Amino acid sequence: MTDSVTVAAPAKINLQLGVGPRRPDGFHTLATVYQAIGLYDDVTVARADATTLTVSSDGVDASDVPTDASNLALRAVALLSDHAGLSPDEARVRVHVHKRIPTAGGMAGGSADAAAALLACDALWGLGIRHEELLDLAASLGSDVPFSLVGGTAVGTGRGEVVEPVDDSGTYWWVVALSTQGLPTPAVFAEFDRLNSDRVVPEPALSGALLEALATGDPGDVAQALSNDLTGAALSLRPDLRDVLDLGSRAPALAGLLSGSGPTCLFLTRDEPAAHQVATVLDAAGTTVLVAGGPAPGAHVVTAL
Ligand code: C5P
Repeated sequence: MTDSVTVAAPAKINLQLGVGPRRPDGFHTLATVYQAIGLYDDVTVARADATTLTVSSDGVDASDVPTDASNLALRAVALLSDHAGLSPDEARVRVHVHKRIPTAGGMAGGSADAAAALLACDALWGLGIRHEELLDLAASLGSDVPFSLVGGTAVGTGRGEVVEPVDDSGTYWWVVALSTQGLPTPAVFAEFDRLNSDRVVPEPALSGALLEALATGDPGDVAQALSNDLTGAALSLRPDLRDVLDLGSRAPALAGLLSGSGPTCLFLTRDEPAAHQVATVLDAAGTTVLVAGGPAPGAHVVTAL
């Protein structure tokens, strides 16, 4: 019998974040291109007498991560045990989350933990849930959770939860500039609504130029096609991010953009040495930076004991 399972789940970035109108359920229609990058949270689940959650971190401030039932990883555990009809005795687990993905940073760190917890419990309890079924459970936990299971480069439609892998022949080196203060996703979408209140927001469309550039795999072409419709809203709430974006672009990166709803900023570079050069410039200016490559695999089991 398996007693303990560790799953690694990647951070996501959005190479395109096309945002459409607010739907009746409060979510916005999205046309997005996700990429998983090589920055992972590890989630370990182990059989226990009581369900608990602990958090540790490496290079990021995890002090805001909730350890009560509101934590998305614990909600994933509860959802899967209900779905599988486990008894309360069988369903008790000790969950440990080791964070490397910035929290409230627009990189879906909480969603990665939920995806990891789903996959880890599926393995721990020997459920063998079908991939499609796991994706449905993931979607009910959050818009970004299915992509964490899929990884690589993929388009996301609906509210972001309908995920389809795309042809990507490139390797991309990203500099990730962290912000000391998080920016809650709902606040950025609310600001998007406020800024667009006097016009009809059109349905978003996937960028043909971006999909073509990904198929060719040239970072220069991909850089030209990056876009994020939440930029105006995030900069309205956090005007200081403009300085970070300008600095990275002068560093010089091929392109800079906001990661998801921010406040993390991303810079695409020509190759790994160029990424370290840009990182050095940002670091010297007092910005905390990470270098990561993409596309990276989705959530996967690292150890099962
Ligand atoms: O799906 P998730 O729980 O990650 O979404 C967090 C919040 O982000 C939502 O409550 C909503 O305010 C906003 N959101 C949105 N449209 C989306 C995805 C998220 O408005 N497509």
